[in-house]
Amino acid sequence: MSKGHLAGRRAVVTGASSGIGAALARRLAAEGADVVLVARREERLRALAEELVRQHRVAVEVKACDLARPDAREALFAEVNAGGAVDVLVNNAGFGVHGAFLSIPWERERELLEVDVAALVHLTKLFGQAMTRRGFGRILQVSSIGAFQPTPTYAVYGAAKAFVQNFGEAIDHEMKGSGVRCTVLAPGVTTTEFHQVAGQKPNFFLTNTAMAAEAVADIAVRGLLSGRRSVVPGIMNTLTSWFVRLLPRRQAVSMAARLMAE
Ligand SMILES: NC(=O)c1ccc[n+]([C@@H]2O[C@H](COP(=O)([O-])OP(=O)(O)OC[C@H]3O[C@@H](n4cnc5c(N)ncnc54)[C@H](OP(=O)(O)O)[C@@H]3O)[C@@H](O)[C@H]2O)c1
Repeated sequence: MSKGHLAGRRAVVTGASSGIGAALARRLAAEGADVVLVARREERLRALAEELVRQHRVAVEVKACDLARPDAREALFAEVNAGGAVDVLVNNAGFGVHGAFLSIPWERERELLEVDVAALVHLTKLFGQAMTRRGFGRILQVSSIGAFQPTPTYAVYGAAKAFVQNFGEAIDHEMKGSGVRCTVLAPGVTTTEFHQVAGQKPNFFLTNTAMAAEAVADIAVRGLLSGRRSVVPGIMNTLTSWFVRLLPRRQAVSMAARLMAE
C-alpha cells in the first residue's frame, strides 16, 4: 500500500490523457490515491495507467468517455460508483477555440460548452451528492486566469471559465460543514496540447510565460489538500489575476486582446 496524504482514497481525473490532467493524475497517485483516468483517447490512458501502477503501486482504472455526451456522463458515474466510493473528483477536461467569435462554427462552441461547462456541473452534481451523503469529498475544478477578464478571440472559452470560477467558489461556500470542499484552480499559460487544439500559434506571451504542467499540478494538489477555495499557480499568474481587477474593465479587455493576438 502506498503512503501519502491520499493513501486508500479513490480519485477520478477527467482529461487525464494529456497535459495538466495527466500531471494531476501522476501527482495524486504519488500521494497514494487509486485513480480513475477519464478521456476519449483510451490508448494514452492505458499507457499512463501502466506507468502509475509501476511507479506508485496504486490501483488504476481507465474509462474512455466522451464528456460532451450527457448519456456518457451518466454511464461514467454509474460505472465508477459501482466500483466503490469516490473521494476526489478532478474536473480538468476542457478545450478552447481561438478566433473571432463570428468565424467559429456553432457546433465546435456547443461541444466546448458541453465539455468545459455542462460536464463539469453534471459530474459535480452526481459525485458531489454521493460525497455529501458519505460526509467526505474533495473536488478540483480547472478554470483559467482567462476567468478574471473577458478575452477577445477566446470569448466563449473565457466566459466558460468565468462560469467555472464562480460556480466552484459558490458551491464551496454552500458545502461548508458537509465534509466536502471545492477548490478552483486557475492556471495561466501552461505547456500542454491546449494551444494546438485551440488553433492558436505561439506568440511572445505564450512562449515566455508558460509554466510546466507538473508545476501547476503540484501547486493544485497542495491547494486541494489544504482545502483552499481558489488557487492561481505561479507568481506571474497571481500578479496578473490581481492586476486585472485593478484596471478599468475596458483596459483589461484591451490588454487581454493584445496578449492573445497572433
Ligand atoms: N494549457 C493552458 O495554457 C491552460 C490554461 C488555463 C486553463 N487550462 C485548462 O486546463 C485543462 C486541461 O487542459 P490542458 O492544458 O492540459 O490541455 P490538453 O493537453 O489539450 O488536455 C485536454 C484534456 O481534455 C480532454 N478532453 C477534451 N475533450 C474531451 C471530451 N469531449 N471528453 C473527454 N475528455 C476530453 C482531452 O482528452 P481526449 O482528447 O483524449 O478526450 C485531454 O486529456 C482545461 O480545462 C483547460 O481549459 C489550460
